Amino acid sequence: MTGPFIRPRRLRQTAAMRRLVAETRLHPSQLVLPMFVADGIDEPKPITSMPGVVQHTTDSLRAAAADAVAAGVGGLMLFGVPKPEDKDATGSVGARPDGILNRGLAALRADLGDDAVIMADTCLDEFTDHGHCGVLTESGAVDNDATLSRYAELAVSQARAGAHVVGPSGMMDGQVAVIRDALDADGFTDTTILAYTAKYASAFYGPFREAVGSSLQGDRRTYQQDPANRLESARELLADLEEGADMVMVKPAMSFLDIVRDVADRTDAPVAAYQVSGEYAMLAAAGERGWIDFDAAVDEAVLSIARAGASVILTYAAADIARRLSLG
Ligand code: PBG
Repeated sequence: MTGPFIRPRRLRQTAAMRRLVAETRLHPSQLVLPMFVADGIDEPKPITSMPGVVQHTTDSLRAAAADAVAAGVGGLMLFGVPKPEDKDATGSVGARPDGILNRGLAALRADLGDDAVIMADTCLDEFTDHGHCGVLTESGAVDNDATLSRYAELAVSQARAGAHVVGPSGMMDGQVAVIRDALDADGFTDTTILAYTAKYASAFYGPFREAVGSSLQGDRRTYQQDPANRLESARELLADLEEGADMVMVKPAMSFLDIVRDVADRTDAPVAAYQVSGEYAMLAAAGERGWIDFDAAVDEAVLSIARAGASVILTYAAADIARRLSLG
């Protein structure tokens, strides 16, 4: 009897064997649920382009956060949606202690204490009337250095509200250093920085605009990275680590798995990756049409992100995935 002598199928024969030799294992504690809390609404408001995701009231935020944490989710990333009339050119409502994001953070911290990692989006686009992540010059360009001091103020206000982690997502040069300095100067030396290190100017953020009620004028190509580039992420990584980032993030995740792998190979710091709104939406839409099995597809996508090297994964499906993982 001749071959095949090499039979890889042996290791695939039973579910128990497959579990035994699995190379990648997900745990609920590595999942982070992004959540939206909106000012001036009485009831949770569905986000049409993201089935199953809502803008929360403070009360529904608390309930959904408790539910996610009970399912084992390790972290919550909070975004604030102010009333349209509270937006201005500099996004000033963002840093106010009574601004919606800071109120949401305080509520989560009061309820959850240190049981889950509470993260804040540290950016201006939710709060500016023009929808950009920074303040503008007279000619309408995003002003890097003028934006930095706004980020510093925002991060300190979020730490004060109770965030364990601040997540600067605006891709301004020097943002991590400025935020680290400001946090330390205010005594928040333990507040952790999750830097959006490799953040691309992506078409997959589309549904997020609806989620935060932002109508962006123009695009973000002068500050977010060109999807054509790979080595640029290595340079962004070096800069962020040098400036004091504790964790680094790649975003979007699914169309940038090569970048997740690159970044994971180049640093020993925890690497996070964000399955963004459009990535979630396309899976959900195909699932609703019966073209794919949404649960199976989202589980597979998140597993792929882990396999690529991310140890922390942000996904709008975090609570459901955590529940499935707990059931085994
Ligand atoms: C910026 C920010 C964005 C997202 C997270 N933080 C929007 C953008 O950069 O255009 C997108 C998240 C998603 O699409 O799920 N505050």
